[in-house]
Amino acid sequence: MAIQKTHKGKTKPRSPTLILTVSIVAITLLYIASTLFSPNGFSFSTSITSKNSVFSKNCRQHNGPHKYIYWGNRIDCPGKHCDTCAGLGHQESSLRCALEEAMFLQRTFVMPARMCINPIHNKKGILLGSGNSISEETEERWEDSSCAMDSLYDLDLISDTVPVILDNSEMWHHVLATSMKLGARGVAHVEGVSKTDLKEKSSYSNILLINRTASPLSWFAECKDRKNHSSILLPYSFLPSMAAKKLRYAAEEIKKLLGDYDAMHVRRGDVLKTRKDRFGVERSLHPHLDRDTRSEFILCRIAKWVPPGRTLFIASNERTPGYFSPLAVRYKLAYSSNYSSILDPLIENNYELFMVERLILMGAKTFIKTMKEDDNDLSLSDDPKKNNKKWEIPVYTRDGEE
Ligand SMILES: *[C@@H]1O[C@H](CO)[C@@H](O)[C@H](O)[C@H]1NC(C)=O
Ligand SMILES: *[C@@H]1O[C@H](CO)[C@@H](O)[C@H](O)[C@H]1NC(C)=O
Ligand SMILES: *[C@@H]1O[C@H](CO)[C@@H](O)[C@H](O)[C@H]1NC(C)=O
Repeated sequence: MAIQKTHKGKTKPRSPTLILTVSIVAITLLYIASTLFSPNGFSFSTSITSKNSVFSKNCRQHNGPHKYIYWGNRIDCPGKHCDTCAGLGHQESSLRCALEEAMFLQRTFVMPARMCINPIHNKKGILLGSGNSISEETEERWEDSSCAMDSLYDLDLISDTVPVILDNSEMWHHVLATSMKLGARGVAHVEGVSKTDLKEKSSYSNILLINRTASPLSWFAECKDRKNHSSILLPYSFLPSMAAKKLRYAAEEIKKLLGDYDAMHVRRGDVLKTRKDRFGVERSLHPHLDRDTRSEFILCRIAKWVPPGRTLFIASNERTPGYFSPLAVRYKLAYSSNYSSILDPLIENNYELFMVERLILMGAKTFIKTMKEDDNDLSLSDDPKKNNKKWEIPVYTRDGEE
C-alpha cells in the first residue's frame, strides 16, 4: 500500500504537456531508428525478422542487401531449342556471370531452383569404372534431365560471398508479394540495360526487384567484359568449390584414401567430334587432342611432372575399358570407380559425380588439365581450349615426324 502511494505521489506533479512532449520525442526516435535499420526505406527487414522461423534457412544473407535481382528460371538455353542444355562448366560460366552482376549491384541473386542436365553428360559409365569391361549397350544412364540447384551447391556457402535465394523458396514468394504491394517501386523489368545504369540510375537502384531478361542463348554472353581481368569478381574455381555438403564430404573421404596424389582430367568424348569438309576430309576443332589424350602420348608428356610410383587420379569421360591401363607401368592409377562404396549411396547424377571429381582434382599435388586455360596450367595438349571456328585435319604423328 505504502509503495503504491509513493508512486502515485511521484507521478502526480507531471503536467499533460510534459507527457505529450515525451511521447512525441519517443515516437520520433522510434521512427528514425526504424528508417536506419531498414536501409532501403522498405519495411521489408522488419517483416523478415518477424517471420524468422519460416525463413531461418535463408537468413544468413540478411546482414546483406535486401534488394533482389532475377535473371529468369533457366540458366542457358542454347540454340533455338530449349529442350536441352550445355554441360555443367558452360552453365557455371553463366551462373558466375549472373552472380558477379549481383555482387556489383549489391543485390541478392535469385537463382533458378533447378539446373538442366545435358543427356550426353549423364551416362553412368564413369562411376561403374573405366577399368572394368562394360559395353556401350549395357551402359546404364541416369534418367533425370534436371536436378535441384541445392543438390549441387551449398547456398549458405555461396551466400557468404554473394547472397542467393532460390526461385521456388518461400522467401522468393514473399519478395514477389512485397513487390506487388510496392507498386512502381516494387519491380523493374529490364532488358539490355548496362549494369552501371542498373547500379547508378535511381529508376533502377531504388527498386526492390530487378527482373532482367538475360540472353536466352547463354547467360555468360552478358559478361561482355569477361576478358578484362580487373572486372572479374569471382574466379573460375568459385562455383566448383561451393559444392553441396554431401559432395564435399565424399571428396574429403576419397582424398584421405588417396593420400599424397597427383591428378589429371582427360577430356575426350564430345570434344573429339569431327566433321567432313567439302572434300570429305575429317576436320576437328582440336586437331591434336585425340593424339595427345592417348596413353602412350600421356606417358611421355607427363613424365617431367609426375615421378614414377606416384598415385595418379584420373577423371575422364573416356568409356573404352582399360583405356588408361598402359599408364599403370609407371603409376598407381585411381578412378572414381575405385571409391564406389563412398559414391554409390550419395551420387544421383553425373553433375554431382563431376563436382566430386573436380574437388579431388583440385586437391592434387600436381594437377594436369586436358587443355591450358591459364598460362600456369599444366596440360596434356597445346591446342587452344577456346576455338569455335578453325576446323583442322587431326594430327596423329609425333611433332616433327611426317
Ligand atoms: C520477368 O520478365 C519476363 C520478361 O519480361 C517475364 O516473362 C517474367 O514473367 C518476369 N518475371 C517476374 C518474376 O517478374
Ligand atoms: C576493365 O574493368 C575495370 C573495372 O570494371 C574498368 O574500370 C576498366 O575501364 C575496364 N577496362 C577496359 C579496357 O574495358
Ligand atoms: C583402382 O582399381 C583398379 C582396378 O579396377 C586397380 O588396379 C587399382 O590398383 C585401384 N587403385 C587404387 C588406388 O586402389
